[in-house]
Amino acid sequence: MKRFPDNFLWGGAIAANQVEGAWQEDGKGLSTSDVQPQGIFGPVVERVPGDRSLKDIAIDFYHRYPEDVALFAEMGFRCLRISIAWTRIFPQGDEAQPNEAGLAYYDRLFDELARYNIQPMVTLSHYEMPMGLVKKYGGWGNRQLIDFFQRYARTVFQRYQHKVKLWLTFNEINMSLHAPFTGVGLPGDSSKGAIYQAIHHQLVASALAVKACHEIIPDAKIGNMLLGGLMYPLSCKPEDVFATLQENRSWLFFGDVQCRGAWPGYMLRFLHEQQIELEITEEDRLALRETVDFVSFSYYMSGCVTTDEELNQKARGNILSMVQNPHLTCSEWGWQIDPIGLRTLLNMLWDRYQKPLFIVENGLGAKDKLEADGTIQDSYRIDYMNDHLLQVAEALEDGVKVMGYTSWGPIDLISASKAEIAKRYGFIYVDRNEQGEGTLARYRKQSFWWYQQVIATGGANL
Ligand code: BG6
Repeated sequence: MKRFPDNFLWGGAIAANQVEGAWQEDGKGLSTSDVQPQGIFGPVVERVPGDRSLKDIAIDFYHRYPEDVALFAEMGFRCLRISIAWTRIFPQGDEAQPNEAGLAYYDRLFDELARYNIQPMVTLSHYEMPMGLVKKYGGWGNRQLIDFFQRYARTVFQRYQHKVKLWLTFNEINMSLHAPFTGVGLPGDSSKGAIYQAIHHQLVASALAVKACHEIIPDAKIGNMLLGGLMYPLSCKPEDVFATLQENRSWLFFGDVQCRGAWPGYMLRFLHEQQIELEITEEDRLALRETVDFVSFSYYMSGCVTTDEELNQKARGNILSMVQNPHLTCSEWGWQIDPIGLRTLLNMLWDRYQKPLFIVENGLGAKDKLEADGTIQDSYRIDYMNDHLLQVAEALEDGVKVMGYTSWGPIDLISASKAEIAKRYGFIYVDRNEQGEGTLARYRKQSFWWYQQVIATGGANL
């Protein structure tokens, strides 16, 4: 029995700084990701000749994309979510003219995808921005960033208007509250007020990008992208239930601004109580009214909230910290596995926004073993995804409009939080280890054949 509609956009999602490598090629400028060789929660360093970061080569997608796209096509992908490295287009961020070599690279990539009828979905900014904008302007704390982002967004909309019809503005826009350097180019110890002001600038830039996309590519759809940080109350104590509502609002408010066009009342109260006075101009208010066409999000795990001091022991997921749920098991990285949470989240977002939803990241980071015969038996990954996809099918039955599902890292890549390659998400194994050794050869895992069947049968094999 088919569980998914024929036009469901099956595929995978990757990000430039986690796959491309070629960090200094074809005029690319230095990005915030380049100066965090140990990942989002590692230190920010000055790059010096001879130092190394796994991300410098990553999985060499910059050069090997034809082979990788062919493998995605073999699985039957209909959609590939990628991100454009802003620094390939505007190396320092504030140039008047874009870098043609960078633009040409993504042309080649989109042409390759078109050969196989794979729709690109492009994130404008996925966990990286030009270091030039951080050093010279102080990152998103500076209002001028709105204009620099506009120039970049308009440039790529113009250039790829005939090739890309699905766009996303900022990856996991709510993460800036937890990792301000990666999110908005501010130091980790910045004040809350500075971070919220930078977030406001980014929300305005996101809305203006939506407007520009609608003007330049009228038949395109553009969405936001939220880190789906679903929280449950640890108990049914009313205080816990209310604290959970607030915790969920701490990330949902980004979606509220992007879908409803204004800062919600509960956030204005929060800012007031924190004595944070944001500079929101009349022009900003007008800009924010341009809302997204669809809502996309990542989902890996859920967490709990408690007001009980003693029970409030938090563990870190990729970005968020959360209290562990006693009813769930964990991945090798301590992320709690909760397939039903995905159905809950889909229903929650649908109820709240009534806009089509797109699951643009989901998957299991695990250690895989390449056997002597070149096979990789990753039944644990199949189990994880199978259980999550069954819940997506349930949500479809609930009447939720889901456009598609792009699993995170369909090919092994460098993880974001700690820049590891030992933590693998792919259906395709890449021969590279933590020391950077390996041939970079690609191998099909057991899950490769499984996902191929999922797509071919519309989920009948789940
Ligand atoms: C999401 C990011 O937070 O989680 C991805 O959008 C990231 O870039 C993914 O890779 C998984 O996290 P990690 O740290 O395991 O790579």
